[in-house]
Amino acid sequence: MCGIIGIASNKPVSVNIINSLKKLEYRGYDSAGIATLSDGFINEKKCSGRVDELEKILFKTPSNGNIGIGHVRWATHGTPSTINAHPHSTEEVSVVHNGIIENSDELKKKLENRGLAFKSQTDTEVITLLITEALKESNPLNAVFTTIQKLKGSFALGIIFKNFSNIIIGARRGSPLAVGYSEQENFLGSDSYALKSMTNKISYLDDGELCVLTKDRVDFYDTEQKKINKKIHLVSDEDNTSNKGSYKNFMSKEIFEQPIAAKKCISEYIDSLKKDINIYNFPIDPKLINKIILVGCGTAYHSCLVAKYWFEELTNVEVEIDIASEFRYRKIKFNKKNLYIFVSQSGETADTAAALDICKKNNVKTCSIVNVVESTIARNADWVLPIHVGPEIGVASTKAFLGQLIVLYILSLKISSLRNNISSDFYSLSIENLKKIPEKLKKCLETETNIQLMAKEFLKAKGSMFLGRGSSFPIALEGALKLKELSYLHAEGYPAGEMKHGPLALIEEGLPVIVIAPKDKYFEKTLSNMQEVIARGGKIFFITDNKKSLISENIRSGIRVPFLGDLLSPIMLTIPLQLLAYHVALLKGCDIDKPRNLAKSVTVE
Ligand code: F6R
Repeated sequence: MCGIIGIASNKPVSVNIINSLKKLEYRGYDSAGIATLSDGFINEKKCSGRVDELEKILFKTPSNGNIGIGHVRWATHGTPSTINAHPHSTEEVSVVHNGIIENSDELKKKLENRGLAFKSQTDTEVITLLITEALKESNPLNAVFTTIQKLKGSFALGIIFKNFSNIIIGARRGSPLAVGYSEQENFLGSDSYALKSMTNKISYLDDGELCVLTKDRVDFYDTEQKKINKKIHLVSDEDNTSNKGSYKNFMSKEIFEQPIAAKKCISEYIDSLKKDINIYNFPIDPKLINKIILVGCGTAYHSCLVAKYWFEELTNVEVEIDIASEFRYRKIKFNKKNLYIFVSQSGETADTAAALDICKKNNVKTCSIVNVVESTIARNADWVLPIHVGPEIGVASTKAFLGQLIVLYILSLKISSLRNNISSDFYSLSIENLKKIPEKLKKCLETETNIQLMAKEFLKAKGSMFLGRGSSFPIALEGALKLKELSYLHAEGYPAGEMKHGPLALIEEGLPVIVIAPKDKYFEKTLSNMQEVIARGGKIFFITDNKKSLISENIRSGIRVPFLGDLLSPIMLTIPLQLLAYHVALLKGCDIDKPRNLAKSVTVE
């Protein structure tokens, strides 16, 4: 993953680099570094840990210079340590890198055979040494061109040069890179989000392209080294919400702002006057869609899983779902009448972006459902449906999952209505029901006090299970994912009916089992599966929207969310599970917004 920033300016850049790195921490937070050019030297400072640590170092020994690069790292090659932190510099060159160089071992051996020594265990250092070598015979642009031709894998690079003290070179293949423009200052960044506090004018490099920045101009080059022009996008400044307000952390803020986020998302798609859904310009006539294929990773994949139930219930279209990292390497039979939908909060997830690229190469129609509308996935898809929930900073996805569910539900309703799979009365009623979501979500959040008590019971647990049937099965998966990523407690999500085929062996006296059982056609069956768990000593936490009493001697505790019909129950049932993961993690003293080993935007394979 990793985040990159570069600034060429007429004034000192280190403070703005640090501020941008703080914004980029969602891409990686295990080490950080900066290199500036001052007094004719490359001045490199780096440390393991967060950007705050780097800031402390700069406070003691400031870095001067009007040109510089910075980096936040999510380790791929080599442990998170000061030596492995970027930039990687020689006397001549300093490089920051996002991506993975797949042939780094081979290149390293060649360089070592020529007597060159490596300081770190990273794949990036080969780039620094190759450029340094190439510079002996050519100018910086050619040195970078020659170097990237030798690299296999993915990269976004920011490079500064001791002897060419007014330029930063950027290059990309596979990993995103953006350029920002301002008066007497130009910027390089992993994404527009990092640059937004400095400019709203952004260009995006495409694969294979390079750029050369000085404080007052930017030149772009294509793969053939020809100069090219790039479109300048004016990006919205909608996301100035990156403060926690009175909340302890971003995650609790994002959980509790879900009623507002849902309202915003719904209002973008619902035309209350016409009682219709504002979704137009389908890349394929909805009546002619043969199959819908939904692709995502992690939480986004879980939203695809829920959507499969909706599309199947509401439309007569066949639906397939896939995990992006699997989809991209499978031998897919592409069909021009299929619609391929990619779901991604960040819009930068490498596997999802690669899966989308494969579809594009096969000339099939693509749709992206994203939160970041300027992202790579949004820009590359034929059709974009934003989720409009505002920036999500906490690494664990909460309000973005909600937004993905809402947009997918709205899309399934629209397609079913355009294909005449549902009656106009059902369509209007469903639209009315959608509008009730924000108020009902507020009620769901009132379960927090009970969930806090429930969370205490997970502190001594060795593991936990989440069970559900139908569309509650993906919600069980999502509940388990949230709990493990935030609290580091092992959690398994399972279709309740599958327990007897193996996982029942895991149940022992006192194991916490969360049973998600809305009042739908599976309710009675889920209760039977629950009995099988009770009989083996499982401690049941029951989550439902059923109005009937929850009290039973076999149920340790019960949580009731508002009933909003079978179809919308996944949206309601998610909230207590988010709160549960949050409170278990809080009690365990875990880093809520930045769980260990993770990053918000997964821009490597
Ligand atoms: C879990 C989580 C991840 C992401 C996944 C995909 O809480 O946030 O599983 O959902 O990395 O990310 P996006 O949606 O940005 O493609």
